[in-house]
Amino acid sequence: MQAFVQYTPTEIIFGKGAEAQAAALIKKYGGTKVLLVFGKGSIVKSGLLDKIADNLTAEGIAILKHGGATPNPHLSFAREGIKAAIDFGADFILAIGGGSAIDAAKAIAHGTKNPTTDIWKFWLREEIISASLPVGVILTISAAGSETSNSAVITNTETGQKRGLNTDFNRPCFAIMNPELTYTLPKYQIACGVADIMMHTMDRYFTSEANENKTNEMTDEISEALLRVMIKYGPIALENPSNYDAQSEIMWAGSLSHNGMTGLGRTMDFSVHGLGHELGGRFDVAHGASLTTMWGAWARYVCDVNPARFTHFAEKVWGVSTPMEGIEKTEAFFKSIGLPTNFTELGIGVQPDDVIDALADGCVFHGKRLVGSFKPLDKNAAAEVYKMANQ
Ligand code: NZQ
Ligand code: ZN
Repeated sequence: MQAFVQYTPTEIIFGKGAEAQAAALIKKYGGTKVLLVFGKGSIVKSGLLDKIADNLTAEGIAILKHGGATPNPHLSFAREGIKAAIDFGADFILAIGGGSAIDAAKAIAHGTKNPTTDIWKFWLREEIISASLPVGVILTISAAGSETSNSAVITNTETGQKRGLNTDFNRPCFAIMNPELTYTLPKYQIACGVADIMMHTMDRYFTSEANENKTNEMTDEISEALLRVMIKYGPIALENPSNYDAQSEIMWAGSLSHNGMTGLGRTMDFSVHGLGHELGGRFDVAHGASLTTMWGAWARYVCDVNPARFTHFAEKVWGVSTPMEGIEKTEAFFKSIGLPTNFTELGIGVQPDDVIDALADGCVFHGKRLVGSFKPLDKNAAAEVYKMANQ
């Protein structure tokens, strides 16, 4: 096996009613004054926010609410949260929601602990983060995996940049995961979540180690099982969002897919995420949909590098025998759950050449990086992939 480090410190509390343990967990991790970070209102509507706020207050924990995190959460929202947290004297940040609330909470934790640093410098790698406040999570959507990941993705609307920051300071100390909290999700969000979860595994599956035939078999088997479970349970959850077993499988897969487990012993590729983030930053589309828009184009562009890997994927995940059948099955699955596979289906229409150029340039950080490891993409290559999806 290839060498690896596995560090997944997040305490997971999974099951019905798990949110009742929030106060005890916050106290366990030293919280006394807690900033609650959440989205645009789903938890207000469902009553979850009041339930948690009342419970924490009754347990003697001081709270301040900071709501309004948008999908593709904005740097400005995090900055407002940092100011509020500092004024309040927050010593703990609790995210209630999905990737957007969680990533905003992580950014607020970093900024509150480092009040003299402009936090965007952490995302630009101009400053290295060395301390943060503890973050806890109550998850309401299975998708981003941020509840256990080392990542936080923030959008700077002033520059149009959507950027991820990977650091172990992004690991939440606990994640409360009650699948019942996902029953109120719109079907489109369930589908986007399923796609994102699959993509966190697939963006680790097609790697340079695969090209050298050096993948860890255990990692491969976990990955393939995870994908099959999502293909089985995604449609069941879409058919009936209150199906506890389906939502459970998806929720647990969401964490496993992005906590590092499906990439042990490998260089992460993450090309499709890199390509998709540019669409998210420019067009403010749902993250999962941005990924399915790019996957088929990317797969066709890179397949020649290692057709054997695509054959393996086709056989183990879809039960078919050729690379192209595997790619077509994957795209057909995305379509079957209502997700796009090109720009028109994504709703942004066919784009002019200057936009393709700008997307490709942003994707390679204006020439500062190649995207991915399976087939590293420079700007021209990224532009070719965007062109293939531009229909
Ligand atoms: O804002 P509210 O009103 O809460 O509505 C949200 C939002 O509109 C809604 N929602 C969430 N839970 C709900 C619900 N509606 C009804 N009932 C519920 N129980 O769903 C919508 C999407 O929420 P969001 O948090 O944006 O979803 P997701 O978890 O997909 O997060 C997306 C963000 O995470 C980033 C993405 O780029 C995007 O910005 N990612 C973060 C990662 C990480 N930190 O590790 C990795 C991912 O690859 C991803 O990049
Ligand atoms: Zn993702």
